[in-house]
Amino acid sequence: MRRIKVGILGCGYISDDYLRNFTQAYTNNVEVTALCDIIPERAQKQAKRYGIPKAYERYEDMLASDDVELILNLTNPAAHMETSVSAIGAGKHVYIEKPFVMYRSDAKELIGLAQRKGVRIGCAPDTFLASGTYTTRTVLNSGLIGKPFAAFGGFCHRVQDWHKNPSVFFQPGAGPLYDGIPYYIATWVNIFGPVTSVSASLSAPFPSIKPVYGPEFEVEVPTLDIATLTFQSGVVASMLYSFNFIDSNMPRFEIFGSEGTMNAHLPNAYSASQLGETIRIKRAGDSEWRSIPEMTNYRTFGHGLGLAEMCSSIAQNRRHRCNEELGYHVLDVMNAFEDSSREGRVWKIESTFVQMDPLPADLLFGELD
Ligand SMILES: NC(=O)c1ccc[n+]([C@@H]2O[C@H](COP(=O)([O-])OP(=O)(O)OC[C@H]3O[C@@H](n4cnc5c(N)ncnc54)[C@H](O)[C@@H]3O)[C@@H](O)[C@H]2O)c1
Repeated sequence: MRRIKVGILGCGYISDDYLRNFTQAYTNNVEVTALCDIIPERAQKQAKRYGIPKAYERYEDMLASDDVELILNLTNPAAHMETSVSAIGAGKHVYIEKPFVMYRSDAKELIGLAQRKGVRIGCAPDTFLASGTYTTRTVLNSGLIGKPFAAFGGFCHRVQDWHKNPSVFFQPGAGPLYDGIPYYIATWVNIFGPVTSVSASLSAPFPSIKPVYGPEFEVEVPTLDIATLTFQSGVVASMLYSFNFIDSNMPRFEIFGSEGTMNAHLPNAYSASQLGETIRIKRAGDSEWRSIPEMTNYRTFGHGLGLAEMCSSIAQNRRHRCNEELGYHVLDVMNAFEDSSREGRVWKIESTFVQMDPLPADLLFGELD
């Protein structure tokens, strides 16, 4: 299998998870040839740590290299657009961490540019490629809980209680909507199909936060996001995602069918077992919940899975799964949360995407072909 030569832009927190998997698991498909960060020492440190041949100080130099075919964009969300335009302009494929970009107009511009240059765009989230979503889709397709008609997703996340620099989670490009909700939307559309409308209420109940570590800071984005999503399949799902709750017993993801209920996995994770949890169902007449075994080997921190699948797809000239059409649809729904909340009405979703088959169940962790 031809390996795709990847240059990574942005060597911050999440680069460790990617580099670990690229150097230990996805080695048949991905060859990391170069790193770059606006803070050069970060790229140098990661190059040394993971044995990457080249650490560039200037992004232009990495883009000029024939040893880089694809840029993995791990910069902060505010930099995703500009740095991806440069990558595509230089004739490189690009894979962007979530959120894809901030606005529909930017995504359209990027997609048009990539079409003109004949390169591909991929984007996270990629968790839906792993065991959690595979298992959920298989259970639903088997009819074990009958016809699904409703779902609920609830998540609370208080970075202010443990993170050393939590203020970035309360700035544009983050907040529940751009930090965690992309995982829910990408997972839900891969289970229930495209979204057709959104009704949302976004608010910031507390104007400032005093974290455990560091000084008090201002909240610049909504931190309490409540939404109802209607899917083309007829399923209606309700979501409650906040950075404010002290704790909660809300199910993270529950699906209601005509014959039963399913406790599914947290969409932000690759599987339920990654968090020590179990997918369960309870059918009409059951007195107990029954556990459903996870059905693929992608059960652990799989960062880079979407990019590795894209590299395998480029090498074999087939459509990649974390593609720009899905990325645009997810962003369209995210932007619709804001539109609906601002205008106080149900927001129709104009975009759609083609649901692709899951990865084959018998792949070993790290295998794509
Ligand atoms: N932290 C997580 O747990 C996590 C998980 C999944 C996805 N992500 C996503 O991954 C991306 C990076 O997140 P992170 O937590 O690693 O952030 P980070 O702030 O730790 O790292 C970002 C890095 O990008 C560099 N950078 C910023 N602008 C740049 C530019 N123009 N050119 C070159 N380098 C630039 C910064 O210097 C920094 O080293 C974000 O899109 C985030 O949403 C983060």
